[in-house]
Amino acid sequence: MIPTSFPYQIKDLKLAEWGRKEILLAEQEMPGLMSLRDQFETNKPLKEVRITGSLHMTVQTAVLIETLVMLGADVRWASCNIFSTQDHAAAAVVKGTTNYSSVPVFAWKGETVAEYWDLLWQAFSFPRNMGPQLIVDDGGDAALLFHKGCELEDGSQWVEEDSHNEDEHELKRLLKQIFARDSSFWHRCKEDLRGVSEETTTGVLRLHQREEENSLLIPAINVNDSVTKSKFDNLYGCRESLIDGIKRATDVMIAGKTVVVCGYGNVGKGCAQSLRGYGARVIISESDPICALQALMEGYAVKSVDSVVHEADIFVTATGNIDVITVSHMKKMKDYAIVCNIGHFDNEIQVASLIREGVKRQPIKAQVAKYVFPDNHCIIILAEGRLVNLGCATGHPSFIMSISFSNQVMAQIMLWEKQQELENKVYLLPQKQDEMIARIHLLAQGGELVELCEGQSAYLDIQKDGPYKPREYRY
Ligand SMILES: NC(=O)c1ccc[n+]([C@@H]2O[C@H](COP(=O)([O-])OP(=O)(O)OC[C@H]3O[C@@H](n4cnc5c(N)ncnc54)[C@H](O)[C@@H]3O)[C@@H](O)[C@H]2O)c1
Repeated sequence: MIPTSFPYQIKDLKLAEWGRKEILLAEQEMPGLMSLRDQFETNKPLKEVRITGSLHMTVQTAVLIETLVMLGADVRWASCNIFSTQDHAAAAVVKGTTNYSSVPVFAWKGETVAEYWDLLWQAFSFPRNMGPQLIVDDGGDAALLFHKGCELEDGSQWVEEDSHNEDEHELKRLLKQIFARDSSFWHRCKEDLRGVSEETTTGVLRLHQREEENSLLIPAINVNDSVTKSKFDNLYGCRESLIDGIKRATDVMIAGKTVVVCGYGNVGKGCAQSLRGYGARVIISESDPICALQALMEGYAVKSVDSVVHEADIFVTATGNIDVITVSHMKKMKDYAIVCNIGHFDNEIQVASLIREGVKRQPIKAQVAKYVFPDNHCIIILAEGRLVNLGCATGHPSFIMSISFSNQVMAQIMLWEKQQELENKVYLLPQKQDEMIARIHLLAQGGELVELCEGQSAYLDIQKDGPYKPREYRY
């Protein structure tokens, strides 16, 4: 139960009972996290380790948070997206029960961008003016706040430069406020910080950029590129949660529609497959010839957005890139075309520029808005161009998040236990752990594995208990 003067900022604590019921339901579908609890609850490998989480505050994340706590950690949490929090999950985590400790959560659905950064700072602010010892990050905002904080204390003038968007503006505002109050917080934080585990493609890209520039200040684990993450969550997760988001937002019939999916990486592959499964005519737009050829071999049309902009009913961005759907594209779209993003951040679609172009925004309901152009045609934009599956629905199913979050837990344990060995580089989890996570989830779903006999493992020159593939195998 919540101790007195316990810190938290959420929508409504009264939602806790509902949240707890859904968390218990999710646990049934999260065999990986449950088995890690069984394996490590007694030894508590994260005993008293201060962990800051910046990852969508959903029901499934609640199971991750409570797993970290059962492994001994002292956790504070914020969401990594202004629309993705499930308020009942946040309430349940804060309230706790006799079996689950209360955890400070700072998140609600529908934060402003300014609130978002302030809440992330709350998740960094442990008692006695201390920062975290480990970070769980999704998209790189927590790592960005930490690195920019250190750079400011080292004399960087970045906070005084013009901002390119609202997020950057609010991040700079927050950094200046923290610096004015405590000009050495981030360096003290750095002394204690042992690393970050990063959940997604875009966050990993940022970490690699820092590694290349020699500006990465802590060890990092790339959870995204565990095979059991990128080839499962990104693909099979989005295969289910994209349509969930579009349907909850619009109730539109997918069958018979023409849908453009921008990006045919892991996320795009999952999206295209489910859209086709529903009977849509799917067109892929890609910049990488290998991915584009894969799409063609799967039977999709492969076209540029420009060449099909007039004919499509739904546009989905899944690239992790900027300015993929431009204002000029949106001007040419059909009346009531639906536009959404399942990639990262809010800049795959030029939503912010629409208002500057005189387009009128008319809200329909939370996270669904009609944008009316001066010529009177309109389009429907979901979640303001931010993640549609988390803004308009509740993200991926529990089972797939169990796979991703098992990687997160293993990454946190590795960062802590191997802190003497790890350098300020980006690491992958060992292949055997990837295979172990796959094995747990396979067996939990009733799958069976072939066990290689001595002769077979000798013939292929692999150990009977793995790794089963060379590191460079692409799956
Ligand atoms: N919403 C979610 O639940 C969720 C889950 C996982 C990943 N993500 C995010 O989705 C994004 C994509 O992830 P991924 O794992 O598929 O990455 P990926 O690198 O496998 O695929 C992205 C693809 O987009 C293509 N691309 C880049 N710029 C393009 C452009 N202008 N037009 C067309 N195609 C372009 C690339 O060539 C690449 O093939 C990332 O930002 C990632 O962080 C979201």
